[in-house]
Amino acid sequence: MRNIQQTSSYVVSHKGLEEWVLHVARHTQPDRIVWCDGSQEETDRLFDLLVKAGTVQRLNPEKRPNSYLARSAPSDVARVEDRTFVCSQTKEEAGPTNNWIDPVEMRKTLDGLFEGCMRGRTMYVIPFSMGPIGSPIAHIGVELTDSPYVVVSMRLMTRMGAAVIEQLGETGDYVPCVHSVGAPLTDGMADVSWPCNDTKYIVHFPETREIWSFGSGYGGNALLGKKCFALRIASSMGRQAADEDGLGWLAEHMLILGVQAPWGKKYHLAAAFPSACGKTNFAMLIPPEGLDSNGWKVTTIGDDIAWIKPDAKGRLRAINPEAGYFGVAPGTGNKTNPNCVASLGRDVIFTNVALTDDGDVWWEGLTETPPAHCLDWQGRDWTPELAKAEGRKAAHANARFTVAAIQNPVLDSSWDDPEGVPIDAFIFGGRRSTTVPLVTQARSWEEGVYMAATMGSETTAAAAGKQGVVRRDPFAMLPFCGYNMADYFSHWLRLGRGLRDKGADLPTIFCVNWFRTDAGGRFVWPGFGENARVLKWMLQRLENRVNAEEHVFGFSPRYQDIDWSGLAFTEQQFAQISAVDLSAWKEEFKLHDTLFETLALGMPEALKVIKTQLQSQVEEKLAA
Ligand code: GTP
Ligand code: SPV
Ligand code: MN
Repeated sequence: MRNIQQTSSYVVSHKGLEEWVLHVARHTQPDRIVWCDGSQEETDRLFDLLVKAGTVQRLNPEKRPNSYLARSAPSDVARVEDRTFVCSQTKEEAGPTNNWIDPVEMRKTLDGLFEGCMRGRTMYVIPFSMGPIGSPIAHIGVELTDSPYVVVSMRLMTRMGAAVIEQLGETGDYVPCVHSVGAPLTDGMADVSWPCNDTKYIVHFPETREIWSFGSGYGGNALLGKKCFALRIASSMGRQAADEDGLGWLAEHMLILGVQAPWGKKYHLAAAFPSACGKTNFAMLIPPEGLDSNGWKVTTIGDDIAWIKPDAKGRLRAINPEAGYFGVAPGTGNKTNPNCVASLGRDVIFTNVALTDDGDVWWEGLTETPPAHCLDWQGRDWTPELAKAEGRKAAHANARFTVAAIQNPVLDSSWDDPEGVPIDAFIFGGRRSTTVPLVTQARSWEEGVYMAATMGSETTAAAAGKQGVVRRDPFAMLPFCGYNMADYFSHWLRLGRGLRDKGADLPTIFCVNWFRTDAGGRFVWPGFGENARVLKWMLQRLENRVNAEEHVFGFSPRYQDIDWSGLAFTEQQFAQISAVDLSAWKEEFKLHDTLFETLALGMPEALKVIKTQLQSQVEEKLAA
């Protein structure tokens, strides 16, 4: 066995970590190992390398200082849910909504795939912390990868480098994450600009808390701190922790925001919307003028993931485990999300957006008028005329930007607080063109859990070949729960009971839907900044400052309960998005039935009781 050359600017005193790195290197056979320190010099060096390899190109420094455009392989543009596996000891533990393969068999498959898979490449060691380093809510991971694009991305998305090695010390715990694009270079073979492999495996072993990812270099497939660790492995860790303290903790697909209310109180909310359903937008929302412009301010703590743990008093406190945003570019513009556009002025990695003739970026929705000419996300000529003729988009629908959180002009002052922020309310929102009203307040924790569990949404980029179909997406966690979804519901219910027993006030649960459409398929609700009107109603509800109407599913505002100042939105339009159509709900319950059948094993009794109650109320009202 030849010696593999290692480069490191720091001393590693963690023998277990060193041994694991060498063990993986012996198997994957990279030419060299580089321990990443997270420094600017390292990043500069990697970008130089990426430019030479053709993976990224430098954007015009006058337009977009220190920023890059990456074009992925057209086959590697989103998470691959059908290639994502949760390999717990038994199939029942993974549950019916996760792909499962026996862990022994999966390890054999991975052994074969990873053998020699890094030949001709460098293996980078990325020590990273999910959450502020040393926070009682944070956890550490180490990703080994043969993709320098992953390294520069992880530096923006996590707290990464030498400080994490120091925090680990000699014996610290970390989640081992191994990633390869699966494209070894043998015998002087020339590289391609975006190496990847048609065979893809995104694999989680929840018992041993390991992540193995093969064949993709894109987003959640490759930046293993994000969905793989911060959601799938962490959700499983959070539930396991309940075996010890009776409560455990939560890892959720949620944005976290702060809201300053004009009555002088600061609130913190966490909201779960499925992928590409508006989390980044909501987290950076600017309340419209005219809405108590004296005093409403929204600030961002996180835009995609929340880790939530009870403190000693039983209050739920949340951190954003990430340090950057990997956000959807199309649809992001000065009209929809000016704070986001302002975050993207410099030091950004753009992936699969269009390149303008002056060396800047563009995507659908960035500006109202498209450039007369640009290169599309695959580098082909694109003009508005071609777009019309061929229906071709300049940017890929799942094109994304990667940027550090500190560039957000409305970053919350507590975003980095190791103690996290106390959560006052949870919001759950699906993407439904019918049936689900604009906003509903649950009457109890249990009823809120029911609403979240039965959330539905029209599918997005990562669910291959199923665009536009409504699927159940419980808690916006369907692709991200690292264990049996029915047990996940039980975990939420048990946590609620446990906190109540401690005498703690539980956060109020709301359910929203920005996406009801009219007969012509157009959104009726203007959304974006106007969502602040709904936010205002929710916060007023927390203080009993506003009225509501009780219906079968909980409390919702009447027209007069919402602040409409500065917006022309008629009572009739409001009825279109808030009406509870009982015959539609009768059909909806059939879909809930299907979900309950799918998740029958371990489905908590409390949710079955709520379903029966709600369903019989709907039947009664229809009969009356
Ligand atoms: P992930 O990063 O995939 O988890 O998604 P996200 O939930 O952060 O999605 P994002 O905020 O980037 O939203 C993406 C899409 O939602 C874009 O097409 C937006 O135009 C659309 N969107 C966001 N907010 C609203 C809204 O209030 N109303 C409507 N109609 N569309 C919205
Ligand atoms: C999502 O799909 O919910 C994302 C993007 O946030 S990715 O990181 O690719 O999963
Ligand atoms: Mn997401």
